[in-house]
Amino acid sequence: MKERQHVTRLTTGLLFIAFAGFYIVFIVLSSSSIDWRGPSIWSTFTSVGNNFAAGHDYFLWRNDGSCHLYFEFGGRVYWDRNETENFTLAGIDGQKSVCLDPGLAPPPGMCVVYSFGLSDDWSFESAMAQYGCDVYAFDPSLQFPKMPNNSQRINYFNIGLGTINTKKDPRGWKMATLTSIRKYLLHSYQPIDYLKIDTGGDEWLILEHMLQDGRSLRLVKQISMEVHLLHSARLHYYRNLTQRLEASGYVRFFSRQNPWMKNAYELAWFNVNYSSKSQLPVAIRADGRKEADLMVNYKLPPIV
Ligand SMILES: *[C@@H]1O[C@H](CO)[C@@H](O)[C@H](O)[C@H]1NC(C)=O
Ligand SMILES: *[C@@H]1O[C@H](CO)[C@@H](O)[C@H](O)[C@H]1NC(C)=O
Ligand SMILES: *[C@@H]1O[C@H](CO)[C@@H](O)[C@H](O)[C@H]1NC(C)=O
Ligand SMILES: *[C@@H]1O[C@H](CO)[C@@H](O)[C@H](O)[C@H]1NC(C)=O
Ligand SMILES: *[C@@H]1O[C@H](CO)[C@@H](O)[C@H](O)[C@H]1NC(C)=O
Repeated sequence: MKERQHVTRLTTGLLFIAFAGFYIVFIVLSSSSIDWRGPSIWSTFTSVGNNFAAGHDYFLWRNDGSCHLYFEFGGRVYWDRNETENFTLAGIDGQKSVCLDPGLAPPPGMCVVYSFGLSDDWSFESAMAQYGCDVYAFDPSLQFPKMPNNSQRINYFNIGLGTINTKKDPRGWKMATLTSIRKYLLHSYQPIDYLKIDTGGDEWLILEHMLQDGRSLRLVKQISMEVHLLHSARLHYYRNLTQRLEASGYVRFFSRQNPWMKNAYELAWFNVNYSSKSQLPVAIRADGRKEADLMVNYKLPPIV
């Protein structure tokens, strides 16, 4: 495994220079090294024990600048009114960060999104369907899913993401591994543009299984996962799995603490194998038309 990746980055700045009445666009290229690894702050704590603060620093860290352009799809506004104090807490939940950099942006019209865990909030799935992806949504806990009926692109399955295939787990839910689901949907050799895992506590076991089986995460471009630090004694285990995922080539480009839940974090990674940033400057230099295409591709998707 490579510990460090050196890539050429396209800096965000564009210089517009007036020359004889024409505007010429320069794209500034720079070579810089990005350290894809997570932070090492943890190593300074010999005994983590109850130290959720160390966990907080570790999980809140993100690789700033690794994704130049990301957009949060979906989300719903929630209110939490405190009657006695007239104090109202508002926030958004359910939105997921998608990196839209070259090579990573889901190609509209031919992208595949897997979404595990809905809590009957279909905002992310609707947004991705509207963007142009085929969305496969899974949640075994919904009795009467309020699935949006305005999109042909959303497919719902009453199945949960598990570490084994079973018709009935102790909760009475049908579960399947990611490898089996991909096989069933004929996606074993098809890249998954975005994998959302929001299974409320199960995620560590699932991640461990996916890392071990070596096939589940093959050809997965981006992953978002809500992680829960439920047991302080297990913080080392949580970090170990995160490090293994990151050592295998997933770059953590996004992290945020969940304001609604103690010790829960929204993390998102992209697969470095798909990031084509290092190839960009060559393409731009070689062919002026590609530059125009690039500008078009950099437009933000519609706000939904
Ligand atoms: C309302 O807010 C006050 C002050 O922040 C807090 O002490 C109280 O427990 C809250 N009440 C409820 C019902 O959340
Ligand atoms: C809370 O709201 C009510 C009605 O809007 C108002 O009469 C009252 O003064 C408010 N209380 C405080 C503590 O702001
Ligand atoms: C679609 O869902 C909306 C809201 O849930 C409902 O009002 C509408 O009747 C549904 N349309 C169809 C064709 O089922
Ligand atoms: C994770 O834990 C396993 C088993 O304890 C160990 O072999 C491995 O080196 C650890 N990996 C990291 C990145 O800490
Ligand atoms: C990236 O590609 C290499 C070489 O094919 C492979 O070994 C590695 O597992 C890939 N990483 C990810 C995260 O897919």
